[in-house]
Amino acid sequence: MSGPNSEYDPVQVTPLDEEHVEQMRDDALAAIAAAADLEQLKAVRTAHAGDRSPLALANREIGALPPAARKDAGRRVGQARAAVNQALAARQAELEVEAEARMLADETVDVTLPWDRRTRGARHPITMLAERIADVFVAMGWEVAEGPLVEAEWLNFDALNLGPDHPARTMQDTFWAEPAEHHLVLRTQTSPVQARTMLTRTPPIYVVSPGRVFRTDEYDATHSPMFHQVEGLVVDEGITMAHLKGTLDHFAAAMFGDGISTRFRPSYFPFTEPSAEVDLRCFVCRGLAPAVDDCRTCKGEGWIEWGGCGVVNPRVLVACGVDPARYTGFAFGMGIDRTLMFRHGVSDMRDMFEGDVRFSTPFGADL
Ligand code: DAH
Repeated sequence: MSGPNSEYDPVQVTPLDEEHVEQMRDDALAAIAAAADLEQLKAVRTAHAGDRSPLALANREIGALPPAARKDAGRRVGQARAAVNQALAARQAELEVEAEARMLADETVDVTLPWDRRTRGARHPITMLAERIADVFVAMGWEVAEGPLVEAEWLNFDALNLGPDHPARTMQDTFWAEPAEHHLVLRTQTSPVQARTMLTRTPPIYVVSPGRVFRTDEYDATHSPMFHQVEGLVVDEGITMAHLKGTLDHFAAAMFGDGISTRFRPSYFPFTEPSAEVDLRCFVCRGLAPAVDDCRTCKGEGWIEWGGCGVVNPRVLVACGVDPARYTGFAFGMGIDRTLMFRHGVSDMRDMFEGDVRFSTPFGADL
């Protein structure tokens, strides 16, 4: 026989008894607390609050209970589900804040960082000055001519009236290229470009030629075995020394400012006759130095040595195939390095050639 029907106790009904429901709730709360990010929380939500979660299934069971048991079971399960949902919402909010903070940290842009960590190069001030010099002449309608650095001895010397036994050859200490029988030198001056130009073009000739030259000089504050010159050459009908003087005064003013002119001192160069040394009016004291005060730039002279010039020697015209009865010309040669040193107060020539970009950058992109 079966026992008597006692009153139904809902607490005894599995899985809706109190202990069981609490267990489901605690499992859910533990999983929620353990969710480390939103992705994990999503999975926890499905497992513990989704349609097939233990609490949802328990909720469905309630309907199957005897009416007397439904109320308690419903409250228990309802409270457990509410607690789980609340915990989910709270953890969701927490994790969202964390995720946003992490994203902000990850995407932070440090505006104080240097935008380009690679140091920039710079154009060399000699290159810029050479271009600027060329521009002064191009603006007057002249052309720019170039010649090779390894030059034929004949063009560097003989064509310029410096024959093999000419004493002036020793004025320029020469690097000879081997083998000697090829008669090649590292050009000691830009003047061979004069010869090259006259040999390849017919007058009128108006050319300027900046470039590198070489001599077996010591390397010190005022000498370098490699330096830069700019050569000028004009060959045309009726050219005189007056044209030369006007041209160099214009060049000086373009380089050093209005009112800075030149003076000529008699000199000797084999390729010009007459020849002159060109001095530049001191652009610092403007020639007032001896009278007013000592000037460090011109050492109280009022003038600064700048280069050489002259009327092209007819022997050079003949050597280069130009008729001296019809044409005359003038030529000049200046040191570009010297010009840079004057213009920008560079006191040691070596600074220009040691390749330290810190020397070049302050000159900017244009001189
Ligand atoms: N070539 C000469 C030198 O290096 C400079 C020079 C002097 C060039 C007179 C010239 C000139 O064209 O006419 O010392």
